[in-house]
Amino acid sequence: MANTEETPMNRQEPKLSPHVLIFPVPIQGHINSMLRLAELLCLSDIDVTFLTSDFSYNRIIKHGKVDSRFARYPGFRFETITDGLSDDHPRSGDRLMDVVSSLKNVTGPLFKEMMVAKNLLASENRRPVTCIIADGIFSFAIDFATEKRISIVYFRTTGACSFWAYFRMQELIEADEIPVKGKGMDLLVQSLPGTEGFLRRRDLPGFCRVDDINDPKLQGIKFETRQTARAHAAILNTFEDLEGPILSHIRTQIPNLYSIGPLHSHVKFRLETKTKEFSESLGSLWEEDRSCLTWLDSQPPKSVIYVSFGSIAIMTRDQLLEFWFGLVNSGQRFLWVMRPDSIAGNDGESQIPTELEEATKARGYTVDWAPQEEVLNHPAIGGFVTHSGWNSTIESIVAGVPMICWPYFADQMTNSRFVSEVWEIGLDMKDTCDRVVIEKMVREVMDVKKEEFLERADQLAKLARKSVSEGGSSCCNFERFVEYIRSLIL
Ligand code: UDX
Repeated sequence: MANTEETPMNRQEPKLSPHVLIFPVPIQGHINSMLRLAELLCLSDIDVTFLTSDFSYNRIIKHGKVDSRFARYPGFRFETITDGLSDDHPRSGDRLMDVVSSLKNVTGPLFKEMMVAKNLLASENRRPVTCIIADGIFSFAIDFATEKRISIVYFRTTGACSFWAYFRMQELIEADEIPVKGKGMDLLVQSLPGTEGFLRRRDLPGFCRVDDINDPKLQGIKFETRQTARAHAAILNTFEDLEGPILSHIRTQIPNLYSIGPLHSHVKFRLETKTKEFSESLGSLWEEDRSCLTWLDSQPPKSVIYVSFGSIAIMTRDQLLEFWFGLVNSGQRFLWVMRPDSIAGNDGESQIPTELEEATKARGYTVDWAPQEEVLNHPAIGGFVTHSGWNSTIESIVAGVPMICWPYFADQMTNSRFVSEVWEIGLDMKDTCDRVVIEKMVREVMDVKKEEFLERADQLAKLARKSVSEGGSSCCNFERFVEYIRSLIL
């Protein structure tokens, strides 16, 4: 009979998994993509601590459906830290920069203290952090990780196209292509390899639009981006078939670059393959108004244009009216996300012309916040008026929905140009906000050139889904990344 008594010699110590700390800038676009990365790692049996601000944590718990989704992963847990701002700070529009500086000045030093005080977040069942995956603009994280000899990987929430522009800012400055202003806006950019012939200075990230190269925002993002080359690796939420040529250029500077996107589609594929469960969106900071899905159910296929400008963009009342008239005059049906904080100087009073209100009742629908992934994948949606945030762009690509781009700031300026000139799945109305232009573009996407836009968008959507399927580029890159994480504890 076998001796089943446990002795110190034959006792099997439970083997602790690798432990990754994920630390995003605690705003919607960053949380969304980094939560998906967290879920992918959990599905690969890696322990994850997700560090976010108290402010965003409270909202994710309230609206983001994370409790039910992450309950299945014993290796997942949240940790919180202050972002240094009061709860009533708007954290959007121009005030977003307050978040960035407070994270650097308040959160950065606290992060270091917290990590040490919490024994690098070890517990009985969890080893100390073996790798930090930090948002690509947290240079304090690489200083800390280097000092503590912990592996650090940077995650950028942007596409490769704008990341490359950020990375080459010094060269662009030396070539006098930054600052971007005045008559030079339409000159083609010469010193950004891979973008010759189509990228104009106005398509460079919004931070390049300054009067002086010593502008702190320009210098800040330039510095932060260059730190990526010091990390052990970098991750981008993109895929090879979408941005292969630009990724190759970046790899000359950052060889360990993992393109593992589209992350929301990647999670969906793995979750549905592994657990056969449907993957719905998660991590929302606002309450989703799902009534818009019922409204969409009653609309004909591909007949509705979805309008949403993400979580940060703000428009003036005049711009709001230009969009509204443009949409109404196009005669198309529309679903519009009007975030309550997205209209500058909104006095809450209804000064909307009656004709707009009546047309909206007849063929429009508005919500404060939508379940965007589900909306984009609804059969009634035929187009997307977007601010070209990277998540919105990649979600639209996966859903095969053509776009009309009205970029607001930062990377969005570059994303919108790639949408119109490289992928040819939409139109770019950058730097204009005119009802006539909006009406014309909506007609083109929803009517005049509908078939050709839909066909190209559909082809790209297929490539996106292929990349995250078994054997696809993002799937293989992610598996290599997991091997790297595992190698850290061997
Ligand atoms: C920002 C930047 O704009 C973006 O370019 C950067 O790369 C990441 O952070 P944001 O402006 O909010 O984010 O835009 P976006 O990247 O598009 O992210 C918005 C997210 O909110 C998307 O995942 C979208 O699905 C979600 N969303 C938006 C909703 O779930 N409901 C809505 O009604 C609107």
